[in-house]
Amino acid sequence: IPGRVIFSGIQPTGILHLGNYLGAISNWVKLQNEALPNDDVIFTIVGWHALTLPQNPKELSASRRDMLATLLAFGIDPSKSVVFYQEDNQCHVELSWILSCLTPIGKLNRMTTWKSRLAAKRNANDESEVDESMLNAGLFTYPILQAADILAYRATHVPVGEDQTQHLELSRDLADTFNRTFDPRKRFFPLPSQLITPTKRVLSLKDPSSKMSKSSPDVSSRIMLTDTASQIDRKIRGAVTDSIQGVTYDPENRPGTSNLLSILAACEGVEPQVAAQRYEGKGHGDLKKDVSAALEEMLKGPRGEFERLRNDQEYLARVAREGAEKAKERSQRTMSAVRKMIGL
Ligand code: ADP
Ligand code: NA
Repeated sequence: IPGRVIFSGIQPTGILHLGNYLGAISNWVKLQNEALPNDDVIFTIVGWHALTLPQNPKELSASRRDMLATLLAFGIDPSKSVVFYQEDNQCHVELSWILSCLTPIGKLNRMTTWKSRLAAKRNANDESEVDESMLNAGLFTYPILQAADILAYRATHVPVGEDQTQHLELSRDLADTFNRTFDPRKRFFPLPSQLITPTKRVLSLKDPSSKMSKSSPDVSSRIMLTDTASQIDRKIRGAVTDSIQGVTYDPENRPGTSNLLSILAACEGVEPQVAAQRYEGKGHGDLKKDVSAALEEMLKGPRGEFERLRNDQEYLARVAREGAEKAKERSQRTMSAVRKMIGL
């Protein structure tokens, strides 16, 4: 039986926060560890996507290495998964071009991430014109590059958040268009399906009406995966809860308290409702102490491993090189078939 091809990517943003870990990376690790022998599990750090926004080359170069070290430290295992830098495999851009020529511009115009960028620009410049120099063509076409990332491996399953649903639909559309245009058997590209992550949305510690994010200027609103025990402790003690007595799980009315319970539950691998049970007759102080301790317990091993890997750039470079070889081996098979089908 042919296995699944599981594929996902992450931007080279360097050090991640707890939301990234619980919402994305921990799910990747689970998929990797639960994969069947016939499955192929592929993760990439997408440097080409990063270029859609202005980048400082020195920082970008450090961030992509930190991202690789993070993935490895938190459990991505190069002997089980193909892990590589997107920009080490030229197939992505080649396929992206071919798919570009199959994409109606109207479809890209309707992409909500593009529309929200456009709207954000319009608001920023109020009545004046949109500063189109900030809206580069890469930002407009990056859903096509994303489709190419996926289709280059003829991926069948893509674990990404719900914000990516529309982009994944484009990938399916393009797979289907390609099949119907060029493949006599009309099934060369499988239509990739979205593996929706069981929602583990981590909220900001300072404003539990929004998610924990790297874009918040308040660094105490997020736990970084490299935070020390005392940094974790300080941030959790400062987390916004509410003035209701006791600890109950009620995300609607008690988002701050419930967020801490969710974090605790995620660290322990239980449901938040279950974690809540032990706080009968206890208060926020008890909960916070336990959250800090659970986070430290979960993060201390990977944090040490991250530091170790960061100091072994040679090893990281070797993992990246070997990952790229495996990735290329797979995508070159796709590309020779594609080239033949399109007549080039
Ligand atoms: P940020 O919001 O910090 O900029 P990204 O947009 O770079 O994070 O997201 C990288 C990955 O982490 C995505 O898969 C996203 O769904 C996940 N993610 C980001 N923030 C959270 C969060 N607060 N809770 C759960 N998952 C998150
Ligand atoms: Na973001």
